[in-house]
Amino acid sequence: MKIQLRYENPQKVRTDLLVVILDKELKLHDLGRSPLAATVDRVRRNIRAKRLLRPHLEHLGPRSAAGHLLVDSTSFDSALNVWESVKTAAARSLRTARELGLKRVAFVLNTSDALPMVGKAVEGALLGTHGFAAYKKESAEKQEYFDRMRLDLVAVKDNDARNRAHLDRYTLVSDAVNLARDLINEPGAVVTPERLAAEAKQIAAETGLDLRVWDAKQLERDGFTGLLQVGRGSAHKPCLIRLSYKAPGAEHTLALVGKGVTFDTGGISIKPADKMWEMKGDMSGGAAVLAAMKAIGRLKPKVNVVGIVPAAENSPDANAQRPGDIFRARNGKTIMVDNTDAEGRLILTDGLSLAGDSGATHIVDIATLTGACVRALGPSIAGVMGNSPDLIQAVIQSGQNHGESFWELPLPDEYKEMLRTPNADINNIGGIYAGALTAGLFLQEFVPEKTAWAHLDIAGPFMRDKNWKYYEPGGIGFGAKTLVDLAERFNDYFD
Ligand code: BES
Ligand code: ZN
Ligand code: ZN
Repeated sequence: MKIQLRYENPQKVRTDLLVVILDKELKLHDLGRSPLAATVDRVRRNIRAKRLLRPHLEHLGPRSAAGHLLVDSTSFDSALNVWESVKTAAARSLRTARELGLKRVAFVLNTSDALPMVGKAVEGALLGTHGFAAYKKESAEKQEYFDRMRLDLVAVKDNDARNRAHLDRYTLVSDAVNLARDLINEPGAVVTPERLAAEAKQIAAETGLDLRVWDAKQLERDGFTGLLQVGRGSAHKPCLIRLSYKAPGAEHTLALVGKGVTFDTGGISIKPADKMWEMKGDMSGGAAVLAAMKAIGRLKPKVNVVGIVPAAENSPDANAQRPGDIFRARNGKTIMVDNTDAEGRLILTDGLSLAGDSGATHIVDIATLTGACVRALGPSIAGVMGNSPDLIQAVIQSGQNHGESFWELPLPDEYKEMLRTPNADINNIGGIYAGALTAGLFLQEFVPEKTAWAHLDIAGPFMRDKNWKYYEPGGIGFGAKTLVDLAERFNDYFD
């Protein structure tokens, strides 16, 4: 989709669908005293009187520059804040336009209140018109239609520089999120560890980030045992990916570590067949990290950032690790593999270790780690745990800035005993209770010393089975936007 800023009288904008968004407190559009203003006013009164909760579409006469008018409102869905409402309205408008066979859409955002909405509208447009179209003709045609659409943002000319900055920033971040979504949606046969490394290579080429990939042999040489253990049963060899961004003069290094299990069968502790296909998305944490690095490489925040993705496929075969196997992690601790389906935490031990080697002062790991977290928080909220209240709060705040919700869960010392086992330093599963917490407590044992750390369990929101806000069903790239925001605001949070 081509998105452009326009500085014209809304009444005069030639378009197929002119979109106006109402809000209770903010004034997002200024139509002066035009006939259009009178029409919008009438619609507004009608919406209020009849308590309507859907956008209103109106055909405009031949004397109008716009073919149709769509009046949307931020109060249609009370669960969404104003930013999320604007994004959802943007997505909804473009979908309506497609259904009506219209090609050109214009959003009126020409007031000072609307300035911060310019970027949000861009995000809603780009995320809201992106689907998984690779394998179905209908979807491909739909995608092609969206790609050919034109979106005009009718904004305030005096804010041109800031409008442009918003347009660029949100375009680049949304494109990165869509890359993550594609990687999540592609089958496990396509997105293998090798493919994730190839994506990282592409990102490095585009952005100039430094890339290093450890192949199986190098993993062996450097002692990344968690990846080797989990990858043993698969024909696709594991690898460890690191993209590094250096900010001149920065004192902190933020490491982002994303779980990259390209398919999780459970291994020998095999999963039930029902919904097992969703485990093609078990690399969603890794996808979020790659996407964040792609954006960070271009946004150039004032903090060093390393993006680390341990990548492996968890499959059962003659070489697979067995329940009861014991191995030594890179930090020297021995791990008893009680359940081969608790594999994410095993590969994350290597990611955390490499984060330490890479000079991380702060680590955020992100993983589709536990079904227990899904049961606790459901599909819209991710869990956040860690050893640093400041970093946890920063994650929550950055999430809130972009419509990604995180809720803090505790890491009680008292529960550490649930990970005790007679013949190794630590068991890879806890008991039947508090599965999200025992996973967090397990990871904590592998966090490099004196490093601030937050763990994001995104097993709930990594994929949606129905439309949600501006997202179509499928992977949503959850966490990428939060990680980018965290890097951008890092010095506001931690200086
Ligand atoms: N990838 C799964 C967790 C998961 C479940 C993600 C549902 C997304 C949706 C993880 O590797 C796993 O299998 N965890 C086990 C751990 C258990 C064996 C302690 C789980 O949550 O059941
Ligand atoms: Zn698993
Ligand atoms: Zn998994």
